[in-house]
Amino acid sequence: MPGGANTLGRDEAISSMPKSFRLDGKVAVVLGAGGGLGQAIAFALASAGAEIVAIGKTPDRLTQTCEGVRENGQQAWSYPVDLADPQSIEKAMSWAHVQRGRLDILVNAAGVQLRKPALEVTEEEWDRMVSINLKGVFFCCQAAARIMARYGTGTIITLTSLTAVIGLSSLSVYGACKGGVAQLMKALAVEWAPMGIRVNAIGPGRIRTPMTEVVFQKDSVRESFLRLIPLGRAGNPNDLVGAAIFLASEASSYMTGQTLYIDGGWLASGGNARA
Ligand SMILES: NC(=O)c1ccc[n+]([C@@H]2O[C@H](COP(=O)([O-])OP(=O)(O)OC[C@H]3O[C@@H](n4cnc5c(N)ncnc54)[C@H](OP(=O)(O)O)[C@@H]3O)[C@@H](O)[C@H]2O)c1
Repeated sequence: MPGGANTLGRDEAISSMPKSFRLDGKVAVVLGAGGGLGQAIAFALASAGAEIVAIGKTPDRLTQTCEGVRENGQQAWSYPVDLADPQSIEKAMSWAHVQRGRLDILVNAAGVQLRKPALEVTEEEWDRMVSINLKGVFFCCQAAARIMARYGTGTIITLTSLTAVIGLSSLSVYGACKGGVAQLMKALAVEWAPMGIRVNAIGPGRIRTPMTEVVFQKDSVRESFLRLIPLGRAGNPNDLVGAAIFLASEASSYMTGQTLYIDGGWLASGGNARA
């Protein structure tokens, strides 16, 4: 099987999990739950026992995610939000808390990408990227942590990127946001540890979703990045779900301020293309 691809189905894999990985009775707010990675993570957390509050921009996509969760026998609610607007984030978190009476897990899986040479980026594009990918993430964490702090427990997982640690052409603004987010997660982990809130990140490599579809379309581009991945394949959204469940659950109770890179070995190779 190339790159050690999973042979177990998601539900099969999750039903055989040890108890400390279970999320029964927990309420998880998943931001970007209508997107490729957010939806896969929402389904996985639900399969591990969590109730899902799906938050994101497009109501139809959130509804689709909620329907998928319910079909799997778990409860789900949706609430549209604009990550660029801190007030709408605050409202969404309060709504989730009032509906479910608790908030145990926050997953920040929303975001936008700008693929453009740095010389051509406009101020408007910079502001939009930063307001969604960096400022938005901060205010989501703040709004969730204000609730979690009342209960003295909670876990936050944010999707960063390889661009937080390596430079990739035409992704300067995106990379600046992700680098900022990676640093933000460390600072929040330290500041909120005394409140019982753990803060960690997942750094995905190249995973095929609507955001990255454009780079899969061109044979030459696809071939060039596949050569940088030691496991020899791009990821699919289900490649992240084990890490998401781990970070959301008691199985990772002594872990905070860390990023798990799920990249088929891209970072470890230091950019050395496969022969
Ligand atoms: N795919 C990868 O290879 C990869 C690699 C590294 C990091 N990441 C990160 O992983 C996260 C998820 O990416 P993805 O690949 O799943 O992309 P995606 O399929 O495009 O999903 C992005 C999600 O973000 C939501 N969103 C965008 N703007 C928003 C706003 N203003 N307010 C609220 N929600 C907003 C979208 O909502 P709508 O559905 O309503 O538009 C969508 O649900 C992002 O942070 C991305 O940077 C992805």
